[in-house]
Amino acid sequence: MTLGPKLKEFEKKIAQYVGKKYAIGVNSGTAGLHLIIKVLNIKDNDEVITTPFSFVSSSNCILYERARPVFVDINPKTLNIDVSKIEKKITNKTKAILAIDIFANSADWDELTRIAKKYNLYLIEDSAEALGTEYKDKKCGSFGDAAIFSFYPNKQITCGEGGMILTDDKNISDFCYSMRNQGRRKENNKWLEHIRLGYNYRMPEVCAAMGIAQLKRIEEILEKRAEVAYLYNEKLRDFQEIKLPPNAKNWFVCVVRMNDRDRIIKEMIENGIQCSDYFQPIHLQPYYREKFGFKKGDFPICEQISERTIALPFYNNLQEEQIDYIVEILKKIIKQ
Ligand SMILES: Cc1ncc(COP(=O)(O)O)c(C=O)c1O
Repeated sequence: MTLGPKLKEFEKKIAQYVGKKYAIGVNSGTAGLHLIIKVLNIKDNDEVITTPFSFVSSSNCILYERARPVFVDINPKTLNIDVSKIEKKITNKTKAILAIDIFANSADWDELTRIAKKYNLYLIEDSAEALGTEYKDKKCGSFGDAAIFSFYPNKQITCGEGGMILTDDKNISDFCYSMRNQGRRKENNKWLEHIRLGYNYRMPEVCAAMGIAQLKRIEEILEKRAEVAYLYNEKLRDFQEIKLPPNAKNWFVCVVRMNDRDRIIKEMIENGIQCSDYFQPIHLQPYYREKFGFKKGDFPICEQISERTIALPFYNNLQEEQIDYIVEILKKIIKQ
């Protein structure tokens, strides 16, 4: 079953948790981003300012509507879009800024809001990775015209697959509500009447039920993740070869940085420890290189950081003995 009482309850609880009027459940964070691009009427060569240091769907959603992502390099401290470089990239085609709370670190929402207002741009928050993060006493997912969360399995809470759109704007909410359900009318919802070209982006009830159960445990989950991050930090902090992530309250991943990254990942995997490079810059993805002609050197800070990142194994119930083992192997491999 879809669109039943569990979805309503999950939407209500997420909206309350984040402090927004409307929450619209969808079947992925990517679907949520796509609907936001649609509802804001971003299309055909419009430009959207965003960061290349993200998961590819934060830019793909712009391409779905034939608009163009305009990348701005990142701030090396926060790994989020460098707000001081945004204004130079604004043109008369710019429609929106799509900023991301990368690795559960909040973007600079005060400055982003100021710029968006000054240039009359829409502001979109991709908070896929940041459920539970706060920026100046407000929850991430509450900034901009609309925001999304993802509930993919590596996220703070998961539904298997799923996403949520958050907004205070009734028109955005009504449109997304209709568009996720094949363009059906929201009111007098006749099942076989379609008033716009929509999608099947519905979240199944079973996923919503998982979401409700997980959201009940959110504080416990965030604490467990913070404990895992703390242990990594304690055990690695004297090891000069590794750059640790900045201290944070909310943790999505534990991404450390080091030289000779590719060899280290390969050998970690050979030793049975799953690690990955995280993220490869979006502008250097083969599809983006081919379509837009992006090349190495276009966004040097993002590239220098990405070349050295390793996401260490990270999940709520990772035990101290397992972390000891990972750290021991990692140190051994680095020293070789
Ligand atoms: C920053 C970011 N944006 C968007 C998404 C897309 O979410 P989903 O996988 O639920 O489509 C993800 C992750 O999966 C992400 O990390």
